[in-house]
Amino acid sequence: MGSPVRMAALPCLSLILLFWSQGPGVRGQEFQFGPCQVEGVVLQELWEAFQAMKDIVQAQDSITGVQLLRKEVLQNASEAESCYLIHALLEFYLNTVFKNYRDKAVEFRILKSFSTLANNFIVIVSKLQPSEKEMFSISESAHRRFLLFQRAFKQLDREAAVTKAFGEVDILLTWMENFYQMGHGAREFPTPGNNRRSITGSGHGAGD
Ligand SMILES: *[C@@H]1O[C@H](CO)[C@@H](O)[C@H](O)[C@H]1NC(C)=O
Repeated sequence: MGSPVRMAALPCLSLILLFWSQGPGVRGQEFQFGPCQVEGVVLQELWEAFQAMKDIVQAQDSITGVQLLRKEVLQNASEAESCYLIHALLEFYLNTVFKNYRDKAVEFRILKSFSTLANNFIVIVSKLQPSEKEMFSISESAHRRFLLFQRAFKQLDREAAVTKAFGEVDILLTWMENFYQMGHGAREFPTPGNNRRSITGSGHGAGD
């Protein structure tokens, strides 16, 4: 007699799990980079992945006085610029920084967190889909910001640059946080100038 009851309970349970997994905790968390929206990425997961590696990674960076993601790159970027900028930066991180850091991640035994971060960056890039027109109209000023970053990167020795750029992921996440919205009631827009770390130049290796 117990078994039919259990059988009936199963679909109910899976229904509950279904609603639970799509509950308000996840739904409504999204990035809004100007015209580009990215749903389904949990910022907290990116932070946790980076926090798990941060000390190891940043300890390898011996060049102080240089910051790649400096304030001229990120600070005061308009919402319209933000979509192009995040797209350009994340692509660069994936194709250049992460690609060249993977062996180190294995060596330092941080591959799991490294992969979590990389996978989330891939998801964000793949979901950023601005219309061509919007991309074009803002690309020049946003591109100039990106070039500042890229030029600073190229001025360093390759390995040092990769290490430094990876250690600056917290600066990147802090900036991205400005475009992250928890739920629909609280739309937070970027507030230039009051980023908590390093965009104002107070973090590690800050030099301006
Ligand atoms: C950002 O805007 C503030 C206020 O307008 C300005 O003082 C500051 O110099 C700007 N920062 C950059 C990097 O342009």
